[in-house]
Amino acid sequence: MRVTLKIWRQASRGGSGKFVSYPVDNVNPDMSMLECLDVLNEQLIERGEEPVAFEHDCREGICGSCGFMINGVAHGPLPATTVCQLTMRHFKDGETLTLEPWRARAFPLIKDLVVDRRSFDRIIASGGYISTSTGGACDGNDILVPKETADRAMDAAACIGCGACVAACPNASAALFTGAKITHLGVLPQGKPEQDRRAIAMVAQMNAEGFGGCTNIGECTGVCPKEIPLEVIAAMNRDYLRGSWRARDNVVTPIRPFTEWSTGSKLKNDPTGG
Ligand code: SF4
Ligand code: FES
Repeated sequence: MRVTLKIWRQASRGGSGKFVSYPVDNVNPDMSMLECLDVLNEQLIERGEEPVAFEHDCREGICGSCGFMINGVAHGPLPATTVCQLTMRHFKDGETLTLEPWRARAFPLIKDLVVDRRSFDRIIASGGYISTSTGGACDGNDILVPKETADRAMDAAACIGCGACVAACPNASAALFTGAKITHLGVLPQGKPEQDRRAIAMVAQMNAEGFGGCTNIGECTGVCPKEIPLEVIAAMNRDYLRGSWRARDNVVTPIRPFTEWSTGSKLKNDPTGG
C-alpha cells in the first residue's frame, strides 16, 4: 500500500515548524506506524535529508515512550493501542496521515514529533512512591490485599506515562495520569501511610508544571492506550481533599487551595519556561 505522511517538522523548540508531506510506497500492511516511519527515515537518509525524530523504545505498548497525533487523534484511530502497536492495515491505501506532536504547554517540543515529558517524571518524584524500611523481603501474603483492591491498583498501575491524555484534553490536564499514579499506591495497604502527603504533593507538582485543570470532558480516557478510567480522577480528588483537610493545621507542608489546582489558573514556578 501507499500512504502520504504529512509530518510536523521542527528542528528545535525555539525554531518555527511546518507540515511536510512525504509519500511512502510499498508499505506493508503488517508494519506498525513506527516501522513505516523507519522506512521513511531510511529513504530520507539515503537522500541526504534529516530523518524524522520520534520517540520509541519497547515497541510493544508497555514503555510509554512513543506517541503522537495521527489525524488529530492521540495514538491514532484504534482504541487502547499505542502507535507502536498500530499497524498500517488500519489505514486505507492512498490515505494521507497527518502526524504531529503532543501539543501542551507542559510538554515543550524538542524536535519534530518528540516532546519533553519530564514534567511527568517530576510529578512522580514528588510523591509517586512508598517509603519502606530496607531489609529482608517479607514473606508472601504477609500483608493481605483484598482481590478487588488488588484489581483496582493493577488497573491504575497500567498507566505507561505516554502523555496521550494530556494531548487529547482541551485543557491539557494531567489529571488522568496523576490520578492513576495516586490511585495505584493509595488503594493498597503499603501506600496508606503516605496517602495524604502523596496526593497533596503530586497535585501541587502537577499544578506547578503548568497542566490545565480537569473539567470532566473525558477525552483523556477515550484515547488512553491502557483504558485508565475517569474514576482515578475522582480518587485523586478525594485523596487531595481529605489530605488537605487533615493537614490544614500543618505549617510545614504547603497546601495549595483546592480551587487553585481545579482551575489550573496558577502557573508559578513553571519549570518549562512555558
Ligand atoms: S493515563 Fe493513559 S494516556 Fe495518560 S499517560 Fe497514562 S497511559 Fe498514557
Ligand atoms: S515504544 Fe514502548 S509503548 Fe510504544
